[in-house]
Parts: sequence; structure tokens; C-alpha cells
Amino acid sequence: PGVRYEVETAPAECQGTIDSDHSGFSGSGFCNGANAAGSYAQFTVNSETARTATVGIRFANAASAGARPANLVVNGTTVGPVSFETTGAWSNWSTKTATVPLNAGSNTIWLDPTTAAGLPNIDCLDVAAPAA
Ligand code: GCU
Ligand code: CA
Repeated sequence: PGVRYEVETAPAECQGTIDSDHSGFSGSGFCNGANAAGSYAQFTVNSETARTATVGIRFANAASAGARPANLVVNGTTVGPVSFETTGAWSNWSTKTATVPLNAGSNTIWLDPTTAAGLPNIDCLDVAAPAA
């Protein structure tokens, strides 16, 4: 199985508040990022080996203004933009997948919102297991 990293569990960071007022999240809450460009959420991911991994970012976005794009930054390198489209309700959670390079050991995976709306609500990050 893969590994789930909850945003409310250190060393993960949320530039905002950990909230629990919209149902359907895993763990004990989700990151309600401050609505500003650069208000990030960050995960620390461990990998036994250097590898390419599929990650799933679980989020909800019911902002009337629509998508809330962010850069996905791994160990300081921007992997690409992720567009977090509306999910219709703050209690409707969806998962965006991306492929990322991981080093052996500790890795930082950073979600850096690029508009003044900030991030959608972020629940957790799932890192797929290495292929058998
Ligand atoms: C609402 C919602 C929050 C969300 C915020 C936003 O206040 O309750 O969970 O983070 O909108 O637009 O970012
Ligand atoms: Ca918010």
C-alpha cells in the first residue's frame, strides 16, 4: 500500500488554520490556507529509494471564482502547475494526481498557490508504493 500524509500532522505545515467544519476529510482536519498567493501547504515524504512516485493531493474547492492553481514544488524544484478546479461543495473532496521525483530519505512537497485566492482546502497527500 501507499502512505497517507495528513496535512494536520507535523512535520506537515499549513499556512492557515487546521479546520474541521466541512465533512468528508480524513484524519482530524484539513488545511484552510489563508487566501493569498504563496500561502502554502507542505508535506514531508520519506522514500526508501530514489524513485518516481505518483502522489494524490486530496482537496475541496467551492470557491465561486473557480479553480485555485498552485505550483507543485518538490525539494525546491517546480514540477508543474496543478489546477484545483471546483468540486462543487467544500464537503466534496477530490484527488489530483501528479508524478514527482523523490530522493532517498526525506523530501519536501510544497503546494504554492499562485493567485490571491490561495489554495483550495487541502486534506492529505497519498504517496503510491513503489512498483512491485
Ligand atoms: C470558506 C470555507 C473555507 C475555505 C474558504 C476559502 O470560508 O468555509 O473552508 O477555506 O471559504 O474560500 O478559502
Ligand atoms: Ca481558505
